[in-house]
Amino acid sequence: MSSSLKEYIKRNSERVDRALDRFLPSASTKPSAIHRAMRYSLFAGGKRLRPILAIAAAEACGGRASRALAVASAVECIHTYSLIHDDLPCMDDDDFRRGKPTSHKVFGEGMAVLAGDALLTIAFEIAAASRPTSRYAQADFVRELARASGSLFLVAGQAADLEGEGKKISHAQLRFIHERKTSALLTCAMRLGAMSANAAPAQLHAVTQAGHNLGMAFQVIDDILDATKTTEELGKTAGKDEKFHKATYPSILGMKRAREEANRFTLAAHRAIRSLGACAFRLKQLSDYLLIRQC
Ligand code: IPE
Ligand code: IPE
Ligand code: MG
Ligand code: MG
Ligand code: MG
Repeated sequence: MSSSLKEYIKRNSERVDRALDRFLPSASTKPSAIHRAMRYSLFAGGKRLRPILAIAAAEACGGRASRALAVASAVECIHTYSLIHDDLPCMDDDDFRRGKPTSHKVFGEGMAVLAGDALLTIAFEIAAASRPTSRYAQADFVRELARASGSLFLVAGQAADLEGEGKKISHAQLRFIHERKTSALLTCAMRLGAMSANAAPAQLHAVTQAGHNLGMAFQVIDDILDATKTTEELGKTAGKDEKFHKATYPSILGMKRAREEANRFTLAAHRAIRSLGACAFRLKQLSDYLLIRQC
């Protein structure tokens, strides 16, 4: 990764951390266990890729990071809730996340469910605090987030992922799972960033195409990393997908074709990013980084 991209990611993840800290109730707010649990997962050391992509998409449409911070933070809250619930014993049953014991290991299952519920809910309050633009009202931000998180997208993907365990599924079904469980929220992050910058319809369309393809590449790489890296490198348990007989790109297409698919999705994202012009150079850099990331 270039030092300028490294610096960009660092600067913007610090901004997002400060915004999240402002938006969340303090850890001592009663009942403190729930607020400690929310903050524990939110500040455990996630890569903050979705909020950074939201900011880069806003910049690609001529906007500023400061206007994208609310929607960027809202998406990170939804993402963190989805991880807490994804790790529960009734789902992927994971003990590690973001290099630390999972929420239910530290706070118990009940409190982990509630921390997820509360992060999901606060996301809408935060999105509603975003400043409207001439093209997009606050209700548009909230609707966008609700759709991407609900039973047609993120929850759809998680449901299909659970149902796919141990079954022989087709490439098309696998694409359905990955589009829903991962690509939809990543696309939503970028669309919301673009909307915070008052993107014109053609810009929003290009950002949507880029987001869809980057989101797909992101989950294919997540599947590859699960099969090839160590728990220490990932900060979450490696080799889980094989153990749970999950439907993944490497398990269905083989490692070589999985990598080819990730390349193909990234190239399609590049085409969409190129149409956004020079302001999209951070998006282009980020899309290259997402393909070669090691964790
Ligand atoms: C993990 O996402 C879950 C997937 C959708 C693959 P990230 O790899 O972005 O996780 P954090 O936020 O850095 O912990
Ligand atoms: C999770 O996919 C996607 C979510 C919506 C949370 P995975 O189950 O592959 O994510 P990890 O590998 O546990 O982070
Ligand atoms: Mg899962
Ligand atoms: Mg999982
Ligand atoms: Mg995974």
